[in-house]
Amino acid sequence: MTSVTARAPVLPASRLRGGLEVPSDKSIAHRALVVNALSGGPATVVMRSPGRDVLSTAACLRALGVTVDRATDGSSTRLTLTGTPSRDADLDCSNSGTTMRLLAGAIAGLPLRVVLDGDASLRSRPMERVAALLRAAGADVTTTDGRAPMTVVGRRELSAVTHRLPVASAQLLGAASLAALSAPGETRIASPAVARDHTERMLAAAGVRIRREGLVTTVDGPARPRPLSLTVPGDISAAAPWLVAAAVHPEAELHLAGVGLNPTRTALVDVLRRMGADVEARLTDDSGPEPVGDLRARGGRPLQAVTIAGDEVAALIDELPLLAIAMAAADGTSELRDAGELRVKESDRIATTVAGLRAIGASVEELPDGWRVRSGQPRDARIVTRSDHRVAIAFAVAALARVALAVELDDPDCVAVSYPDFWDDLAEIAS
Ligand code: S3P
Repeated sequence: MTSVTARAPVLPASRLRGGLEVPSDKSIAHRALVVNALSGGPATVVMRSPGRDVLSTAACLRALGVTVDRATDGSSTRLTLTGTPSRDADLDCSNSGTTMRLLAGAIAGLPLRVVLDGDASLRSRPMERVAALLRAAGADVTTTDGRAPMTVVGRRELSAVTHRLPVASAQLLGAASLAALSAPGETRIASPAVARDHTERMLAAAGVRIRREGLVTTVDGPARPRPLSLTVPGDISAAAPWLVAAAVHPEAELHLAGVGLNPTRTALVDVLRRMGADVEARLTDDSGPEPVGDLRARGGRPLQAVTIAGDEVAALIDELPLLAIAMAAADGTSELRDAGELRVKESDRIATTVAGLRAIGASVEELPDGWRVRSGQPRDARIVTRSDHRVAIAFAVAALARVALAVELDDPDCVAVSYPDFWDDLAEIAS
């Protein structure tokens, strides 16, 4: 059924109604798997509809000698991990930058030799930044002209150093924090802006002495995490398409239950509100390592143009293609600046988003570090996604919420990288 729905053009909906449970947070899931592998387990990680990226991390851990038992019950997947990474391996991280960078950090502090590779998209992304951090701590890391394939020869004992991250990247922060588990003393990691803090939360919950104060994360090593069984909350980045669709659509009300509401991830809610949208977030469970709650969005309010720049960008990084769709529905000219990092995501997301906006009839100008956009005359479009899941989802939302007419995607199946049930969920809420 999914492939039939997926291959048809996405059509404007007359109404959007209902409630959905989105897939588990992929950033938290990657960390739950890697941290539990370092603990030796046994530990069980329960997830809803894990996407290809998360399954890549599980497959890589298996290749490293960790036993990962999988049990599936409907949309719920339980992965039980036992044992630590103990084998040299060639790893296929597929499309997942988080898999590659977090595993590079974890392996740096183990006596293993591992080659990390991925698909064409991942091979085009910068790996020298993570390599440099791990080298500074004493690991032997080589890249291929700054990219994957990347070889990490780890050591049981690394050095505690002070890192200054060149960009506010949770993947870099995560890699340096995981390596710090093998470094006696205090490793300090200074970030130029706030990045998501899932690594800190996961390691702290597993008993590691790690704290973030302002823009500096400090890890006391050496430390071995304790096994930590958990259920991963819903992914706010997977709730995001429905929030944006409901905010933009004139006849919409959508609910998302059980979503992770970590404050380093909720900036989309603030921006949509700033644009005038009716969006609510309600905390329901603050007892675990990550806060969980419900989200609701209603349409029918006119949206105002918005400017996004500076430190806010890191907190919105995965939501920016979707926000481009909200911008194209707003009154006035919106602008995104300081988002050069988008050029090195799964695709050059500035180029892919700008080309898509142009195709759906919006008025758009590409900037070196963002875009300037205002509404145009919605039209039918064929979108070149470059197999980038966030771009595909954003332009599906454009059609659904009537910012475009019928939208055909060149690779609708790429949504499964983060959201395997996306097309079924879309069919469920649209009428
Ligand atoms: C992620 C961090 C973000 C984000 C990615 C997942 C993570 O990347 O774009 O989808 O799980 O650490 P950066 O923080 O490296 O920019």
